[in-house]
Amino acid sequence: MKRFKIKNLLKSPVVGSEVLVKGWVRTKRGNKNIVFIALNDGSTINNIQVVVDAAAFDENLLKDITTGACVAVKGKLVESQGQGQHVEINASEIELYGKSDAETYPLQKKGHSMEFLRENAHLRFRTNTFGAVFRIRHAMAFAIHKYFNDKGFYYLHTPIITGSDCEGAGEMFHVTTLDLKKIPMNETGSVDFRTDFYGKETHLTVSGQLEGELGALSLGEIYTFGPTFRAENSNTPRHLSEFWMIEPEMAFYELEDNMDLAEEFVKYLIKYALENCMEDLEFLNNMIDKGLLERLNFVLNNSFVRMTYTEAVKILTTADRKWEYAVGWGRDLQAEHERYLVEEHFKRPVILTDYPRDIKAFYMKQNADGKTVRAMDVLFPGIGEIIGGSQREEDYDKLLSRIKEMKMPEKDLWWYIDTRRFGSAPHSGFGLGFERLILFVTGMSNIRDVIPFPRTPKNAEF
Ligand code: 4AD
Ligand code: MG
Repeated sequence: MKRFKIKNLLKSPVVGSEVLVKGWVRTKRGNKNIVFIALNDGSTINNIQVVVDAAAFDENLLKDITTGACVAVKGKLVESQGQGQHVEINASEIELYGKSDAETYPLQKKGHSMEFLRENAHLRFRTNTFGAVFRIRHAMAFAIHKYFNDKGFYYLHTPIITGSDCEGAGEMFHVTTLDLKKIPMNETGSVDFRTDFYGKETHLTVSGQLEGELGALSLGEIYTFGPTFRAENSNTPRHLSEFWMIEPEMAFYELEDNMDLAEEFVKYLIKYALENCMEDLEFLNNMIDKGLLERLNFVLNNSFVRMTYTEAVKILTTADRKWEYAVGWGRDLQAEHERYLVEEHFKRPVILTDYPRDIKAFYMKQNADGKTVRAMDVLFPGIGEIIGGSQREEDYDKLLSRIKEMKMPEKDLWWYIDTRRFGSAPHSGFGLGFERLILFVTGMSNIRDVIPFPRTPKNAEF
């Protein structure tokens, strides 16, 4: 007999038919005559109620059906007599796949703290909240590929192990097979990487952008979607040391085109979530964040403010506010500044452009003023920076002088610089932090709760 997924069974129930479902017991209640089991198989936030006539089953079997146990149930789908569901299954056969020790199963009672569930990340998918979050995460990943595929962008797989530091922030994890107890040194007292696996110093990538640019300057429009790694010691609700990033890169796009794409893209994703994940969103709106649906609709239906960094700094310096971090032209904006602009001043998403070149990466296109670059950061309510991007410097001489000024290792970037010698073109791109997007779409407040197994300083469990 074919197994039904509970989602499909509830969507178009054929009352009177014989069905087979398999899943994990969420709750069991009842008395010595009749037992009610709420069963969930992960396909939907909704459970199916299984009604068991206790007299018809082995007493020991029923005893073993506790919260967390895995069972297969055959029976007739009938209209429910009780409240809360339209249909239920009158069980005729139950097979117990896996018992769940009632004493030690961590998810017994309701209302566990997020910290507790993080420590039990191997089981937290079984809660309503995390089931909803990870179904939405999947839907967003799918929608990202659909969006770009429909627009004719190519999915480019950029390397995870690299010899270059795209952001130049020195926040990279080493990749090595050297024996850490016997590190070979050269005459100048630094590590001799010639005997290492790649014969040179390598790291986990912080961004696929540089390789993405090579793709865009041949294939036209590409995007990457992969894991990126940053060894920054930031213990905040918005930083991971392993996170996923989506990086579109487009030939012939200037900064305005880049902003248009970013805005259209995130709105598409929000719309997709509203159209395809409503049950999960409604649950999160009720249980996690009462303003979630309103905020999603608001962002969808309003255009983003676009202004320069310089204008933003003016707003911040004249704001009636005590800042923890000082504001001033030339200083990077902190989360408190970004969130003030978005949540209090404009009350909508903001795209800031033309940042001082000294606080941005080497590859950004330099403006004629000699001070700023064609950067753009998209700032979101509750999140702060969700996207960072720019128009790229396509001029060979300007790029090279910037690389030298910033003391970037020119010899490791020869292939990147080469593209400015052979058919260079105006081009732009950006990076969307996937987990920051999921934070926004789910209303969750800690980034550790929107990736299955978070990696943060001093934490690599599971
Ligand atoms: O602003 P970032 O550092 O930009 C880049 O890496 C560019 N190479 C992107 C590009 O132009 N192709 O990072 C981009 C986004 C941020 O806006 C943020 O959403 C996310 O990546 N991000 C992080 N997310 C979680 N944890 C971290 N530690 C993050 N660092 C950046
Ligand atoms: Mg950034």
